[in-house]
Amino acid sequence: MRKKIIAGNWKMNKTPKEAADFCRMMKEKAGSETAEVVFCVPFVDLHPVLEELKGTGIGVGAQNLHFEDSGAYTGEVSAPMLKEMGVDYVILGHSERRQYFGETDESVNRKVKKALESGLIPILCCGETLEQREAGITIEWVRIQMKCGLAGVSAEDMKKVVIAYEPIWAIGTGKTATAQQAQEVCHAIREVLAELFGMEVAEEVRIQYGGSVNGKNAAELFAMADIDGGLVGGASLKEEFSDIVHFKK
Ligand code: PGA
Repeated sequence: MRKKIIAGNWKMNKTPKEAADFCRMMKEKAGSETAEVVFCVPFVDLHPVLEELKGTGIGVGAQNLHFEDSGAYTGEVSAPMLKEMGVDYVILGHSERRQYFGETDESVNRKVKKALESGLIPILCCGETLEQREAGITIEWVRIQMKCGLAGVSAEDMKKVVIAYEPIWAIGTGKTATAQQAQEVCHAIREVLAELFGMEVAEEVRIQYGGSVNGKNAAELFAMADIDGGLVGGASLKEEFSDIVHFKK
């Protein structure tokens, strides 16, 4: 049985003080025995969030890293820096980073490998635009993103990776994919993982759905056979996140 993983993606929200206050308010509400819960926060919030969440069982993640350990990369943050702080997860290849910061499948792949090498768990994002969905190429597109993003990853390492399927048209729009639409693509992702890494590995990998997940739609989405939790943006900034964590089966 795959353990569900529900991660909040705060994006560029909350100052360090706001972050600490929010975690203090949420740490009891957002804890779960049955699901893994993670807060993925801006770099400057990592320290206060790690402090507040110590001993709660709630994991902490970053939203990006650089694929080199150190060097002349002004403004960047490396995997060993995150690891030493006590960070365990990192979102990689989010569509906003691909769209606004020029991330490519190639750079995302280098980051995935660096995260794994450094002992961080990558949450690797994929997903189609509305145009791609309307053109009927969603599955092909996501298969390519998986093949490129995971190139060179070993089967053993792959078991640790979390995949987040996030249709771009559903992110921040209030337009959630239906549970059937999300399941269809998550199933296709598991199929490509089976082709690349074998059935046993594919059955272990957690695949999240992301895109306007909220307290009302989480239960239906998370009940689907291939959906193992969610990557939650807007609703993770509010108390509502605890309704998502405690979705009713
Ligand atoms: P949303 O964002 O829940 O606000 O749609 C999801 C994400 O971008 O990870």
